[in-house]
Amino acid sequence: MARYAYVNGRYVDHREASVHIEDRGYQLADGVYEVVGVRDGRLIDEAPHIDRLDRSLRELRISWPVSRAALAFIMRELMRRNRLRDGLIYMQVTRGVARRDHAFPTVPVKPALVLTTKNSKRAEADPGPGIAVKSQPDIRWERCDIKTVALLPNVLAKQAARESGAYEAWLVDTDGCVTEGASTNAWIVTQDGELVTRQTDNGILAGITRHTLKLLCNALQLKFVERPFSLAEAKKAREAFITSATSFVTPVVKIDGQTVADGKVGPTARRLREEYVRFAAAGEAVT
Ligand code: PDD
Repeated sequence: MARYAYVNGRYVDHREASVHIEDRGYQLADGVYEVVGVRDGRLIDEAPHIDRLDRSLRELRISWPVSRAALAFIMRELMRRNRLRDGLIYMQVTRGVARRDHAFPTVPVKPALVLTTKNSKRAEADPGPGIAVKSQPDIRWERCDIKTVALLPNVLAKQAARESGAYEAWLVDTDGCVTEGASTNAWIVTQDGELVTRQTDNGILAGITRHTLKLLCNALQLKFVERPFSLAEAKKAREAFITSATSFVTPVVKIDGQTVADGKVGPTARRLREEYVRFAAAGEAVT
């Protein structure tokens, strides 16, 4: 079966899909992206992802390449063509094609829109054995709230983690606090049973999965706190886990080679993953 990509108005064979060499995303990382999870043929949390795309675009003063309604249609059409049941939709908007100059183009340029899909195995409610993370200095810029394609520090951190046998990197700021993962949000469960994740400001990406989990915590009457937590506190936590559109809720059982508690998946992360999978399967928003 041919796999399609959407590139600036056309559905093209994924192997042939290409963008112009003067695209500002390619040359200057002047663009933004979104990743929306798909479960059983349904988009997970579509509206908040598109709202965040809108925010990222506005922050960088890039205009919408198509209307919001058109984007919703393109997402569905690409899913249909690629028979996507479980996996993700990737979408990227760059400022467009222009003669290279750091400043914005002075002539009108149409932003470039690319969408692709990725199939994956349906996420199980069972979390499996959990993952290891490795701490890395957070060397990113001060606008981590914008979901830009400029991901070099994240790439290097993730690679360092993988080379050490860990799945994810946990980024640590100059105060010794964990900001987030290279491509996930970071959470701990304290010895008092509080669920802690860093507050959203310019220092992290406001994860959509993080937000939905916050609503689920409230619905389940779990104690949820947004504050910085240090790497040392994480290593002494009762449980730890990560969240993202692709990892859902994934328990962390090792930090820098040291086990979290007894090194087994804890009940809170297990429960929250089950709840999140139930939410994703239902295809409705938590209120
Ligand atoms: N990453 N923090 C960072 C730096 C991220 O890149 C992501 C998402 C998250 C979690 O956000 P959400 O829950 O909205 O997926 C947090 C996506 C999945 C990626 O880059 O592939």
